Amino acid sequence: MKVLVIGGGGREHALVWKIAQSPLVDKVYCAPGNPGTASLAENVAIKVDQLDELLKFAQGAGIGLTVVGPEQPLSLGIVDLFEQHGLKVFGPSKNAAIIEASKAFSKDLMRKYDVPTAAYGVFSDIAQADVFIEKTGAPIVVKADGLAAGKGVVIAQTVQEAKDTVKDMLSGNAFGSAGSRVVIEEFLVGEEASFLAITDGKNIIPLASAQDHKAVFDGDQGPNTGGMGAYSPAPVVTPAVHEIAMHEVLRRTVDGMAAEGRPYRGVLYAGLMVKDGQVKTLEFNARFGDPECQPLLMRMKSDIVPLLLAVADGDLSGLSIEWHEKAAVCVVMASGGYPGDYSAGDVIEGLDTAARLEDVYVFHAGTSLKDGRCVTNGGRVLGVTSLGDTVQAAITRAYQAVNCISWPGVHFRTDIGRKAIGRM
Ligand code: AMP
Ligand code: GLY
Repeated sequence: MKVLVIGGGGREHALVWKIAQSPLVDKVYCAPGNPGTASLAENVAIKVDQLDELLKFAQGAGIGLTVVGPEQPLSLGIVDLFEQHGLKVFGPSKNAAIIEASKAFSKDLMRKYDVPTAAYGVFSDIAQADVFIEKTGAPIVVKADGLAAGKGVVIAQTVQEAKDTVKDMLSGNAFGSAGSRVVIEEFLVGEEASFLAITDGKNIIPLASAQDHKAVFDGDQGPNTGGMGAYSPAPVVTPAVHEIAMHEVLRRTVDGMAAEGRPYRGVLYAGLMVKDGQVKTLEFNARFGDPECQPLLMRMKSDIVPLLLAVADGDLSGLSIEWHEKAAVCVVMASGGYPGDYSAGDVIEGLDTAARLEDVYVFHAGTSLKDGRCVTNGGRVLGVTSLGDTVQAAITRAYQAVNCISWPGVHFRTDIGRKAIGRM
């Protein structure tokens, strides 16, 4: 079978890497891919939002399964389009992907189906939002309703900051139409976990637990990014937390989506806040997390392709996932300045040396080729991922590899995985 992976980041490199190992697969294509995916798949120069071109390519190349990485094509309706033309595709339809594309939708869904989450209000009127902010007090969280590449959330430390943020978002200055409505919610404290599952709309198979590191600097300091590193398993997801996440978060959400006439098929990613064994849902994503996908797929023992096909066919019953006992850690190497402005085109040294280390895989994200050399071409550049018998062993191995790689201005966190060690 021929498989097409859509996207060009670290998540998609990991998907290509895993899918290419399946005995069911003859050839993998990746659109648009990156220099990392090019070593395992044929890259196709079509952007993720060019749905008609992607469809034409899939039909022409005889693609047996398409796997959608990022949220943008999902929320544009790529799954609906491919299915209308009789193609098998892994991911939620447009009316189900709204669970990520609209925070107001997902909060209202959680309220309706009793999924634990922070108290909130949805506003498109500045004066009404201000009343809510004054009543709640600070710190308080302001979120743009629509997709904002992980940057639409502001944790306001004062009432005035919250009001200014709301004004900025609702007036359309920040985030354009994605900010034409805002969700304002109670500030939660605790430790975050990424809880992902695959579902056919009825059956739910959880993936192993994982934890992301959103802030750009060590100790969770500085602005939020798309994610500076991740590890799996995450000890914060105790067996009791796992049960709550399965029954009160995922089961209620999957059943709720079905009841709303929006059956959800694909990966459902719940961002959780855990405090003293209590679980609250911060958000849903309609896709694999990036970088969580990288350590998760390194730990996945089972062939992923039968699972993806079963979801595309709408019946996961009877399937399960086996995991390596080992832990996996992914350290993101980023361009200096990210998530703000950063430079591009810097030559990356040491990739071959790192790749020779055992149980290490260097997933590419923002890279490109220039004169035959690999150069930086994005904020998050590489996801250096390793397996180890323990989280500590995986951390040590990942940083060994990170230390082989360099370019001018490279930035990475030095504390990825430390929270897991603190809990063991
Ligand atoms: P979201 O995209 O909604 O998950 O928000 C992005 C990040 O903002 C989360 O991963 C948290 O770190 C933080 N965050 C979001 N909502 C809250 C909240 N209610 N309380 C505290 N932190 C939050
Ligand atoms: N790592 C967080 C996300 O993929 O949204």
